[in-house]
Amino acid sequence: MIPLMKNAFFREYETRKALSEFILQADPLSMGRRCLEFEKTFAKWQGRSQAVLFNSGGSANLALMQALRNLGRLGQGDKVGFSALTWSTNVMPVLQMGFTPVPVDCEPSLLNVSSRNLEARIREVGLKALFLTNALGFTGDLEAIRDLCREAGIVLLEDNCESLGTELPSGRTGNFGLASTFSFFVAHHMSTIEGGMAATDDDELADMLRIVRANGWDRNLSAVKQRMLRKRYNVSSELQAKYTFYDLGFNFRPTEITGFLGLFQMKFLDENTRRRERNHLQIEKVLRGNEDLIPIAHGHISRLSPFALPVLCRSERLKEHYLNQFSGAGIEVRPIIAGNIQTQPFYERYVEERFDLPGTVFVDRCGFYCGNYPELGESDIDLICSCLLKDGDP
Ligand SMILES: Cc1ncc(COP(=O)(O)O)c(C=O)c1O
Repeated sequence: MIPLMKNAFFREYETRKALSEFILQADPLSMGRRCLEFEKTFAKWQGRSQAVLFNSGGSANLALMQALRNLGRLGQGDKVGFSALTWSTNVMPVLQMGFTPVPVDCEPSLLNVSSRNLEARIREVGLKALFLTNALGFTGDLEAIRDLCREAGIVLLEDNCESLGTELPSGRTGNFGLASTFSFFVAHHMSTIEGGMAATDDDELADMLRIVRANGWDRNLSAVKQRMLRKRYNVSSELQAKYTFYDLGFNFRPTEITGFLGLFQMKFLDENTRRRERNHLQIEKVLRGNEDLIPIAHGHISRLSPFALPVLCRSERLKEHYLNQFSGAGIEVRPIIAGNIQTQPFYERYVEERFDLPGTVFVDRCGFYCGNYPELGESDIDLICSCLLKDGDP
């Protein structure tokens, strides 16, 4: 059996052991020093000046939308584009903040939004922001997408929850727009059990993210920022300051366990993503030799950090065939992300307008994925490869 994921952590036993020892001696366990250290280490690794840790990727997404709303950079009814092939809590925050969601179709061979599809959508609908998802470790032509957004004055945001570590010649995914989000849920590249991050080079946005993360108060801002805020609102005493709530927020705080695990797992992150890339390249040799299947293009990506192994078939009939091969071999599979988000019940309930999304519909009908993680052994890879052979091939 090859499950979608095997372990909760890279180097499972070592991590669990270190975690148990940490829990025995750590005080406090609520958000503190280790969360801060993890934020700094992550920001440096990612190549951003600021990183704000959250209790999940979904809350990082919601906090990012709330922060942009609080700052007045996005307002009620503003049209926010998003990748039609994405996760529920990428688009739900767009609705929750009162923005208008506009799906942008994905290009099947990229599994992602392309600049061509974005350009077509912009011609049709003026967008204020684009919350792009980099799906399954792959991405579209991000440089061209960034240029298009710049020219059209669109705020580019990246949901990089599935593509931690993927790099293009001009930089890491997650560094192409104003801000980006990451997930550290167990099934993702790097796990803190539950956890998420928002990264940006914009200090004002980072401060607002910290306000949104914790009840709307200023306790996690620098002393200088606190002074400025307290002066603006005539908050004169420390006691009053502790219970002053400046803007709309939530409680999305992580714990010291999140911080500890993040710091521990970061040590292995490069090895973790390198193994995923190696697995992919090995399996892809077989996949490329089978004309029933459409390989996902990554020639524009200099370092691939796959989240899973997508299998895209040329027809629904072929998908049935390969699904049977996989399930017969005991390999667990699932649909590609959430399929066409426009057909999800929550979307049908809250959004009236529909767009043609032929690429996304095709991926939903003809694609599926199985796991690709560092723990896959040679025999696992051989088994996956054997299921990707065309009938009659040796
Ligand atoms: C693209 C994308 N965005 C957001 C999330 C939410 O992350 P989390 O599960 O940490 O809330 C996921 C989760 O799978 C995801 O795939």
